[in-house]
Amino acid sequence: MDSPIKICCIGAGYVGGPTMAMIAKQCPDVEVHVVDLNQSRIDQWNSDELPIYEPGLDEVVREARGRNLTFSSRIEAAIQHANMIFIAVNTPTKSFGIGVGRAANLEFIEKCARQIAECSTGHKIVVEKSTLPVRTAEAVKRILNSSANGATFDVLSNPEFLAEGTAVQDLLYPDRVLIGGESQEAINRLAQVYGRWIPKDRILTTNLWSSELSKLAANAFLAQRVSSINAISALCEATGADVDEVAKAIGTDSRIGPKFLKSSVGFGGSCFQKDILNLVYLCENFGLHEVAQYWEQVVIMNDYQKRRFSERIVSTMFNTVSDKKIAIWGFAFKKDTNDTRESAAIHVCHNLLEERARLVIYDPRVHESKIRSDLKMAFSDVNGVLSDKHKQLIETNVTVVQDAYVAAKEAHAIAVLTEWDEFKQVDAKRVFDGMRRPAFIFDGRNIVDRSKLTQQGFEVHCIGRS
Ligand code: UDX
Ligand code: UDX
Repeated sequence: MDSPIKICCIGAGYVGGPTMAMIAKQCPDVEVHVVDLNQSRIDQWNSDELPIYEPGLDEVVREARGRNLTFSSRIEAAIQHANMIFIAVNTPTKSFGIGVGRAANLEFIEKCARQIAECSTGHKIVVEKSTLPVRTAEAVKRILNSSANGATFDVLSNPEFLAEGTAVQDLLYPDRVLIGGESQEAINRLAQVYGRWIPKDRILTTNLWSSELSKLAANAFLAQRVSSINAISALCEATGADVDEVAKAIGTDSRIGPKFLKSSVGFGGSCFQKDILNLVYLCENFGLHEVAQYWEQVVIMNDYQKRRFSERIVSTMFNTVSDKKIAIWGFAFKKDTNDTRESAAIHVCHNLLEERARLVIYDPRVHESKIRSDLKMAFSDVNGVLSDKHKQLIETNVTVVQDAYVAAKEAHAIAVLTEWDEFKQVDAKRVFDGMRRPAFIFDGRNIVDRSKLTQQGFEVHCIGRS
């Protein structure tokens, strides 16, 4: 009989934390130990206020924590004890050296592999959970095989497809689980874990390289749909077509499908841009320049969409926003998360601040400290240095408040940058009464009730509508 599965996961981030909590909840007999270098993150996982906001996650963690789910920074001990080790550390875009701005920085992955090699004995299955360039497993295997303790390893690729804000549902009912590997025995061991709650026909197995590439390709396809509809939104504004009507009309074609056709101020999140740039870099490395250019256009279109939105605000408001108060509704990259990585809001706020607007920012989940540090980062140079001038600009021109109405008070305009449900339900009269005239709304998510707000007296500007 197989020995019991004992899991260690390195990386208690947006992916490692929720995924391991779900495995622990669904498999009470499997020990799950999540470790991270960052002690304060671990402390948060052990507290009542988890480091990430995900609907339903508190309950999942509460059920398993202290039973078969542990969070700690005892990395070595956890590796030694486990027979299955997930690597879920971050793989940011390189900010230096060869491949700067495109390639994935694999420093953390390599460090994890070395640490696993150093402190392992016996046989272990190492699972790549992080999104990685194709053929990273090759390097991971070589490092692991250099283990001086005679330990042996199987390497699997098991990319995570959960989306933030719906992580718990995505983990409970995934469209598919993908496991790539060479050893059928190792694949079966991991499939056994997921098989506790996921139907067998949803567990796909492939070779290692297909699995690594599928994650990059899935994100590239999803981002491409958003850039495609955003490209059409620009044409809608020029022609009088309505992008939501166009999206509905094309989405009813069963070959196209209705999902991921919501035009917006631009996609954000930790994955789309990073993974496409990573794909572009890979293509270039293999001499596939046309393929690289094709995918790069998805990111170029997204940058254009963010810039276009900011420019529209300025041009509509009589070509100047200097010293005007603009309420920013929403800072997260999408609703139901406190994550701001690559959020379109950062770019729009940056552009408006460059025009010397005064911003009053409200987001129901993002802390003020995070908003300020993101804006400081946006104004920093390539070496991370923030000039005194920009520091001063952020200090004097940015206010963060805890209420959408307070943000809009005496504002010349509102920019809706995240599709939080509460923005759909605001008391239009109350907002309007507090604002200056003309009262502009720039809806970067097409969520407000345009006809109701127009009737109220607002001048409403949506994406993809002239
Ligand atoms: C994940 C994946 O790993 C990434 O490849 C994918 O593209 C997106 O999702 P994510 O969970 O969002 O990343 O990253 P993050 O929230 O930054 O969490 C990573 C954690 O790993 C951090 O808490 C960090 O402290 C930890 N870490 C990093 C380590 O414990 N050791 C390291 O060597 C590096
Ligand atoms: C994405 C993938 O969906 C997920 O499978 C992968 O594991 C990680 O990357 P995530 O980044 O969490 O997940 O969110 P997602 O829902 O995909 O949204 C990404 C961005 O696209 C958000 O800024 C969102 O607002 C935007 N978007 C999405 C649109 O603008 N329009 C759409 O129709 C869909």
